[in-house]
Amino acid sequence: MNQQPQPDRIIIFDTTLRDGEQCPGATLNVDEKLAIARQLARLGVDVIEAGFAFASPGDFEAVQKIAKTVGTEDGPIVCSLARAIKADIEAAAEALKPARHARIHTFISTSDIHLEYQLKKSRAEVLAIAEEMVAYAKSFMDDVEFSTMDATRTDPEYLYQVLERAIAAGATTINIPDTVGYSMPSEFGELIRGIKENVPNIDQAVISVHGHNDLGVGVANFLEAVKNGARQLECTINGIGERAGNASLEELVMALHVRRQYYNPFLGRPADSEEPLTNIDTRQIYKTSRLVSNLTGMLVQPNKAIVGANAFAHESGIHQDGILKNKLTYEIMDAQSIGLNDNQIVLGKHSGRNAFRTRLKELGFDLSETDLNKAFLRFKDLADKKKEMSDWDLEAIVNDEIQQAPELFRLELVQVSCGDRARPTATVTLRTPTGEELTDAAIGTGPVDAVYKAMNRVVNVPNQLIEFSVQSVTAGIDAIGEVTIRLRHSDRVYSGHAANTDIIVASAQAYVNALNRLYASLQSEKNPSVPPDEQITTVAPVAIQGSREQA
Ligand code: KIV
Ligand code: ZN
Repeated sequence: MNQQPQPDRIIIFDTTLRDGEQCPGATLNVDEKLAIARQLARLGVDVIEAGFAFASPGDFEAVQKIAKTVGTEDGPIVCSLARAIKADIEAAAEALKPARHARIHTFISTSDIHLEYQLKKSRAEVLAIAEEMVAYAKSFMDDVEFSTMDATRTDPEYLYQVLERAIAAGATTINIPDTVGYSMPSEFGELIRGIKENVPNIDQAVISVHGHNDLGVGVANFLEAVKNGARQLECTINGIGERAGNASLEELVMALHVRRQYYNPFLGRPADSEEPLTNIDTRQIYKTSRLVSNLTGMLVQPNKAIVGANAFAHESGIHQDGILKNKLTYEIMDAQSIGLNDNQIVLGKHSGRNAFRTRLKELGFDLSETDLNKAFLRFKDLADKKKEMSDWDLEAIVNDEIQQAPELFRLELVQVSCGDRARPTATVTLRTPTGEELTDAAIGTGPVDAVYKAMNRVVNVPNQLIEFSVQSVTAGIDAIGEVTIRLRHSDRVYSGHAANTDIIVASAQAYVNALNRLYASLQSEKNPSVPPDEQITTVAPVAIQGSREQA
């Protein structure tokens, strides 16, 4: 019989790289996924869902690389999603081989509406598949998670049966997804209680929850689930994910941290216990949020709880007065606790390569010699323009370097002329994937518009700019500006991000990064057998026809 010890704390299962990456435009390349996985490990998550190994060669490679690099003896469990299909489970098991602690997460829908219209199977058939595929996953590894998709719209009696059979077949975690974000907090809590009370072998598995934020109550649902016996929370950084996103990791963790005296008794602890309810190093939260936002191009709304720009800003006079007298008058948590103030001035113009490398190591970046050299050149260039460099400046440089691939088009030159008496005009030179240098110029409504129009003339891939944002990394007139853009082409969204003290250069580079993602995806559609990274060197650019829709 399968014996799963019940955890005395909350397990944090991060699905930023799987469900999070499913949101439009958030597609990440393997290096970017690896950078996020490393940071998630530093954050202290228990499980990283690294991807869906069967979905594509790129996904397989990402799961495998994360398993190899982050799945160390004292690292997190690395997990791959798999439909309840043999080929999916085999791909997951193969990709996870290098991980010291691995988990297969297999799932099947259980609601009648999914059974009738999507799976076209009876309840009995789904029950049998669930049992058989959990057992199949178990033949590869001990740690098997099973999810009943659309659980919150499933007949509870049928749900209990499926869960019982999955546990009997070897599932060590059973996950209850609110796939469509339909449930209300008290209902979700009752569902978890019902499972605890009606699934006879429930003590042999950890109860996990997964939920979407369509009605804005994802986090509230999970907290109610914790009160009723859930011990694993599946969440994402900044709450990114399908549609309205997933329950947000930072909100859950900080709610359990700030209100631990309220939650302690539900975990059988004395109310005043100071023992953390999760393994998360909360001081890594802000840094992780920035990394995920930069690499996915998914901006964090300013009023977002915990990590939004205004989350610790006090604007009203009454609040400011109170804060000056005693912080606790209007603050329930300290900005320091999420690492918001960990932004020291560390390096300057005269700092050498060793100091640069050492500080990057302290910040958790372990770069190869080539990447370190590239980043150091950027650092020197920036240090000439900006006297003092902070940790966040260094992070911006490194994140920018990580984001360069795939480098199909390369920005060689951008030059603008603008002003109150001039018509904004831009000239750009791009190096094409075949090494040709192409130059064009355009007039726009402003300098950035002119740059984007000139680039579109060179690249000639129809696209529509749907989001453009500039944010400064630190305060001050010489701050680095970070530009994030999202553009649409044939119903798909591609993002680009870049940082520079010159926001026109950052805007141009961000646009090139987004165009490169778009171009790589067009290449891989033309040549599906060749992974995009290989196509960069092996495939000549496709001639893309179409109207020159301007940004
Ligand atoms: O939302 C969902 O149901 C999922 C499952 C695959 C767990 O993402
Ligand atoms: Zn989901």
